[in-house]
Amino acid sequence: MKSIALGCDHVGFILKADIVAHLQTRGIKVIDKGWWSTERTDYPRYANEVAEAVTSGEVDGGVLICGTGVGISITANKHPGIRAVVCSEPYSAQLSRQHNNTNVLAFGSRVVGLELAKMIVDAWLDAEFEGGRHQTRVDAITEVEARFNAL
Ligand code: RB5
Repeated sequence: MKSIALGCDHVGFILKADIVAHLQTRGIKVIDKGWWSTERTDYPRYANEVAEAVTSGEVDGGVLICGTGVGISITANKHPGIRAVVCSEPYSAQLSRQHNNTNVLAFGSRVVGLELAKMIVDAWLDAEFEGGRHQTRVDAITEVEARFNAL
């Protein structure tokens, strides 16, 4: 991925600067979609900003950070075309790319420390979607979205 939109809430903010710096050391262009402090805010706003940046093609992928990664990934997954994974270890991050073609990675600053978060980010970025039988399954996810969008 060459470009990433990054979003966080006030809890995820503590990891934000270091994760942005880590992405940039990998040569990735980072678009900052907020939040910008530890002042309390609501995570859906940043999940929506990042999801829209991904689905519009503004960026190749998204990274989201809240306390657990749960609320922010649930919100992102409401957007058709978003496949967000919440990870607390690198293996799932890697497989989520290889098998599920995830386009958003989420994690929680209350769950993982900075070094583990960087390992998760690297595992996600280094892995490639394998297509084949996995494409068939991802297509089936897209069909579910289409069914409900038609309502
Ligand atoms: C905020 O207190 C917290 O709920 C949020 O960061 C996140 O963990 C939600 O899933």
